[in-house]
Amino acid sequence: MSSDNEIGFESSKLGTKEYWDSFYKLEHNNFKDNKEDIGECWFDASNAENNMCDYIFNELSNIIIKEDVKICDLGTGNGHLLFQLFEDGLKGNLIGVDYSETSVEFAKDIALENNYNVKFFKSDILNSKDSFLIENVNSFDIILDKGTFDAISLNGEKLHDDKLGVQIYPDAVATLLKKDSILLITSCNFTETELTNHLTKNGQLKVFGKVDYPVLEFAGHKGSTICTVAFQKL
Ligand SMILES: C[S@@+](CC[C@H](N)C(=O)[O-])C[C@H]1O[C@@H](n2cnc3c(N)ncnc32)[C@H](O)[C@@H]1O
Repeated sequence: MSSDNEIGFESSKLGTKEYWDSFYKLEHNNFKDNKEDIGECWFDASNAENNMCDYIFNELSNIIIKEDVKICDLGTGNGHLLFQLFEDGLKGNLIGVDYSETSVEFAKDIALENNYNVKFFKSDILNSKDSFLIENVNSFDIILDKGTFDAISLNGEKLHDDKLGVQIYPDAVATLLKKDSILLITSCNFTETELTNHLTKNGQLKVFGKVDYPVLEFAGHKGSTICTVAFQKL
């Protein structure tokens, strides 16, 4: 752990590329030994992946009905969320990006092994010079994020224009989305209100909907351990 960043989180190793490179290298090696072992599924205990898939099939059906629908999972890790959508029957272009080369290699291998029609690319979504970002302006109908904005919030490093990753992220997402299209994001670091404040600040995204999770009550305070919110590009 090092110093606090401006949004109140302590920087952590989970906010570094080195951490994810070695994490996915290990998971990839495990997979090479055992093809059933596809690694960690983040927020599994909260059923986040199923909830995101259900939201897409139920609430975004008018978008996914298009055969050429383009969906991008930011910080895809092992790509599991996209594989689930593929298995659930979603047709269209399913694309996962991650800044960790080892994640991309791992996800590609799982796709190959299982004949999943999902593409993966290396991309640092916070780097405005990144070729994936440049080539995919106003391109996606749905963008997914499960735990990536959380990981980004744990890096207190100032990037370009003296901005933190959390401040760059909303612009990057808005750049990739078509007008009226949707970001569906799951977080355990931010409450729904905090997430909304961060993501609507640039005036390019507005709240579209959310997934309801069980509300826990402790010492007079109510809340969920996780939230999934949909934002629409204005
Ligand atoms: C908590 S993991 C979640 C992985 C995956 N979404 C899941 O649900 O299993 C965070 C992911 O974000 C990726 N990541 C963090 N910063 C990134 C950035 N600037 N650009 C692209 N990917 C990033 C990490 O490499 C890691 O795969």
